[in-house]
This record gives sequence, C-alpha cells and structure tokens, in this order.
Amino acid sequence: MEYKISLIPGDGIGPEIVGEAKKILDKVCEKYGHTFNYEEVLLGGASIDACGVPLTQEAIDTAKSSDAVLMGSIGGDAKTSPWYKLEPSKRPEAGLLAIRKALNLFANLRPAYLYNELKGACPLKEEVIGDGFDMIIVRELTGGLYFGERKTVEENGVRKAIDTLTYDEKEIRRIAVKAFEIADKRKKKVTSVDKANVLDSSRLWRKVVEEVAADYPDITLEHMLVDNCAMQLVHNPGQFDVILTENMFGDILSDEASMVTGSIGMLSSASLNETKFGLYEPSHGSAPDIAGKGIANPIATILSAAMMLRFSLDLDKEADAVEAAVQQVLKEGYRTVDIMSEGMKQVGTKEMGDLIAERI
Ligand code: IPM
Ligand code: MG
Repeated sequence: MEYKISLIPGDGIGPEIVGEAKKILDKVCEKYGHTFNYEEVLLGGASIDACGVPLTQEAIDTAKSSDAVLMGSIGGDAKTSPWYKLEPSKRPEAGLLAIRKALNLFANLRPAYLYNELKGACPLKEEVIGDGFDMIIVRELTGGLYFGERKTVEENGVRKAIDTLTYDEKEIRRIAVKAFEIADKRKKKVTSVDKANVLDSSRLWRKVVEEVAADYPDITLEHMLVDNCAMQLVHNPGQFDVILTENMFGDILSDEASMVTGSIGMLSSASLNETKFGLYEPSHGSAPDIAGKGIANPIATILSAAMMLRFSLDLDKEADAVEAAVQQVLKEGYRTVDIMSEGMKQVGTKEMGDLIAERI
C-alpha cells in the first residue's frame, strides 16, 4: 500500500527521535512492501525561525492532505530561547494548540503502563506497584481552558487576567464515546475525572458521561474528583483502566501518570479526530537540555509510529512487529541513558533505532 505521511521533527530532541522513527517506518516498508511518501511540516520553534510564526496555513494544508502525522516535540527553554520573548500567541506551544484545533484532534490518547523490564525505574514502592498497571488517559484536546477566551486587563491600576473554561455537551459526548469504545476493548472500566464539587463545566461533564454510559451496559463507570485522582495515581495506580477527562486535567494527570511509570521516554500518544486521521507524538517534551547530544530515547516516538500504523493506516501486523522489536531490544538489555540500570548495555539514540530496525 502507498501512504502519505507528514513528519514534524519540531524542536529540541524532536529531529533526532523522528529520524529514528522514520528509520523504523522505512524498514517496515521494505519488509512488508509498502511505500510511505513523507512530507516535512514545520511547527513550533522551527516554524518561527523559518516563517516567523509557529504554524502556517501551508503546514496545516500539508498535514490535512496526508494519511497521518508523526511528530517529535516542540518548544525550547523558556528562560533562554528567543521564542519566549515573543507574545504568547506567537510562541511554539501556540502552534501545537492551533494545529490540534485546525485538524479537529479532539481525542488525545496517552497510555501509561509499567514495562516489566523497566520495573526498577518505577519510583513507587513494590507494595504499591503490586501486579503492575496499565492505563490509558483519554484527554479532551480541543476545548476547555486552553481554547476559551482569555485576556489580561488593568482595572483601577490592578492587573487582572481572565481565562474561560467552556464545554458544550457535544464536545463532552464525542470524547466520552471514544473513552467507552476504548474501554470496551480493554478491561471495561472508565474513570471519569472532573471537579464536579466546584465547577459547572464538570457537573455538565458528569451528566453527559452518564448519558453515554447508558449505551455501554458492560462497562463500569466511576466518577473521581481530579484532586483525588492525583492522589490515587501514586496510591493505587492498578485501579485504573481508562481515565476520561477534560483538557487541562488530562494535561496534568498524563504527566503524572507517565512519571509514575518511571519511563517517560517510552510512552507514546495519539491525537485523533472523528475519522482515522491522527497526529502521533511521544508523551514527553522537547528536552532542550539534551538536544543534539545523541542520547535521547527514541522509543516513545517509535511506539507512536506503531500506533499510527495501527490506528490510521490499519497496518496491524506491521504495528505488532514494531512493538515486538522494541520489547526484544529491551529484553536483550539495551537501554538509553534515561532508563539505564546496572548490568544493562547503554546505547545512544541512533544505536537504539538501529537495534530496533534490525529486529523487524
Ligand atoms: C502536552 C503539552 C502541551 C499541552 C503544551 C506544549 C501546549 O504540555 O501536549 O501535554 O498542554 O497540551
Ligand atoms: Mg502537557
């Protein structure tokens, strides 16, 4: 089969890790007889440097015309990078938010699970880890606080800033449906996270999620307040299957969940619209402190490419092969520095990519 894939290397370690993911995709093409036509898309700081803005219409059009988008990471060091001297709407992150909106990527899936091979990297005590954990956070990605009206004003000499958090029932319903569909293929439990003891948007969220749940009688629904959820993630992570939540809560909880696994360099993510189209990126950021050093872990991006094969291109056995190759390399004891432990063999970004490609 022939597919068109947009590649967004982005900033920081982005170009290095996307380079390795492309190596893997090329190997998949060779082995399974596919053709992937790549087109590079600028986003974030790279786009600011080349075009003066973090996202251009041309970039949106290219992404839209492809079957899927694979991204590295965007953004730089807020203290030192000139990108952060620009007004907020022209900074790298604004480009990421804008492309999510332009492509209608309302469903962000962020799996967080404990790798058996990497148990030692998990910061939790053994009795808390128990039999391990395997959850997926389903984060609403194009609504809520990050997209509401905002402004900063001065009233009677006092500075004041306003952000608005809005959700309508359609936005809640479509993300809830995604969460239930995913739970249906997993352990059949949805934990919907909100702040319904305070926020109107959360009270509507809860009602709509309950309406959706009525169509999925086999799935257990529970509601959890976000502050409690933050605690439960470190107290008893094994209780979660699918966590369904709004944009900002999902942003925060997904960072917490990935850190709890001890291997943030391993976790992939997908951002999907109503069709098969999606943007795939690692759950971690651009790590400007280690950019260009050849030591970044490319596995999260490689696993994101596997998710892309599965969800957007329907290439299940190819996705399985990539995931199995990653597992194999870990079993053989190869580690990048972020997941290194005693007795293992430390390798750099490129070697890790080569090792995985060889095993496909
Ligand atoms: C993420 C990031 C982004 C977000 C930033 C860079 C705008 O933190 O993907 O989680 O908050 O969505
Ligand atoms: Mg985040």
